[in-house]
Amino acid sequence: PFRQRLLVVANRLPVSAVRRGVKEFEARWIGWAGVNVPDEIGQKALTKALAEKRCIPVFLDEEIVHQYYNGYCNNILWPLFHYLGLPQEDRLATTRSFQSQFAAYKKANQMFADVVNAHYEEGDVVWCHDYHLMYLPECLKKYNTKMKVGWFLHTPFPSSEIHRTLPSRYELLRSVLAADLVGFHTYDYARHFVSACTRILGLEGTPEGVEDQGKLTRVAAFFNCLKLQFPIGIDSDRFIRALELPQVQEHIKELKERFSGRKVMLGVDRLDMIKGIPQKLLAFEKFLEENPYWRDKVVLLQIAVPTRTDVPEYQKLTSQVHEIVGRINGRFGTLTAVPIHHLDCSLDFHALCALYAVTDVALVTSLRDGMNLVSYEFVACQEAKKGVLILSEFAGAAQSLGAGAILVNPWNITEVAASIGQALNMPAEEREKRHCHNFHHVTEHTAQEWAETFVSELNDTVVEAQLRT
Ligand code: UDP
Ligand code: G6P
Repeated sequence: PFRQRLLVVANRLPVSAVRRGVKEFEARWIGWAGVNVPDEIGQKALTKALAEKRCIPVFLDEEIVHQYYNGYCNNILWPLFHYLGLPQEDRLATTRSFQSQFAAYKKANQMFADVVNAHYEEGDVVWCHDYHLMYLPECLKKYNTKMKVGWFLHTPFPSSEIHRTLPSRYELLRSVLAADLVGFHTYDYARHFVSACTRILGLEGTPEGVEDQGKLTRVAAFFNCLKLQFPIGIDSDRFIRALELPQVQEHIKELKERFSGRKVMLGVDRLDMIKGIPQKLLAFEKFLEENPYWRDKVVLLQIAVPTRTDVPEYQKLTSQVHEIVGRINGRFGTLTAVPIHHLDCSLDFHALCALYAVTDVALVTSLRDGMNLVSYEFVACQEAKKGVLILSEFAGAAQSLGAGAILVNPWNITEVAASIGQALNMPAEEREKRHCHNFHHVTEHTAQEWAETFVSELNDTVVEAQLRT
């Protein structure tokens, strides 16, 4: 059967959720390999090795990575899109650093565009991902106006009042609008994007998207109609199947023995400001403070995956979190047990599945989060246990798992502490009801469906545009 060619472009190779989602297409992956390969021989060798996986590398040198990835992407756009504002230094001066970082961002995006263009064949669909590549749609359309270009944002898109503060606010919006289809996780993010275009660029928002002198950019999830929403899913089958593997079963058994007699609470996050890890720890501390009965009957396992460690804000967070964990364990630990097991590491897939499966209560306290796949993965692994999900209302997932989870405002430590009590004491019948709700959602809305819907909308959008002209 004919399979359409799809070029998936993301900062990082490969985007695993997307990767599993595009079985229906003849897909190629274009992205940064995450390593610096300065010499041509090395670059050729890596290109060859990646080709077997249908991956095509974009080579970024150290200076560009520093300015584009650490600087503009992770020190400016990421915190801004998650409502943490711009870094102070950059706000005070129209600084050289901001200017040079934005220049590096555009340069890096142009380098991605060059690689896409070199591999593009007529009829291909080009799907750009995330805040790293907002300048890419425009670069691509400059090469070829006929290219079908879609862009999907994996983070929140903030209120236009926040986007307004960004010095490069016009250029980024303009460039994204060069795409044929722009997709977001939730209706709110899409609405924020359209308001930013109307208020900041003075363009017209329509039920379909944004119009500029008769040219329409389709914005999905604008009217909260099911077909137009693309909240990402996970490959839930993959998690469910993994639980049956002998090594995972063995792992589950070990964990159960290790924590027998105690309820297990779990947090799995990259060690990022947006995840609200300090808030989560403080809420757990308050819960222990107010509930002496539970002190030796509950344990919190916090997996904190190191991330973006060259960015100073992330370094500060690491020591802040360690300090809080130390204090709480000092306060409530005994000679034989501590209340918090905090790990600065990542786990392999099977260990993660086992952990999800033995958990009684998962705690997701993101201050803002585009979607949060950890909450989906937890639910997928809970068919046996039917544990409780405490979920921040500021995670995109709250819109889909809200009915089954206990929703909390992570800034309200008292509320989160009370929810921990509610979750630990929840009767089996209520747990089951809530779990069923979420399990149904997670197994019905997969990454595959998400990817197929996006690409077919993109194809339709282009056809409709041709019919109009
Ligand atoms: N994850 C992982 N190894 C770990 C911990 C987490 O691969 O040790 C994965 C997890 O399975 C999930 C992803 O990292 O798929 C985190 O995605 P999420 O949307 O929750 O947050 P993000 O890190 O993208 O902000
Ligand atoms: C978020 C972003 C992704 C990014 C991931 C890991 O999920 O939306 O685009 O790949 O975090 O961050 P990193 O900076 O290590 O790629």
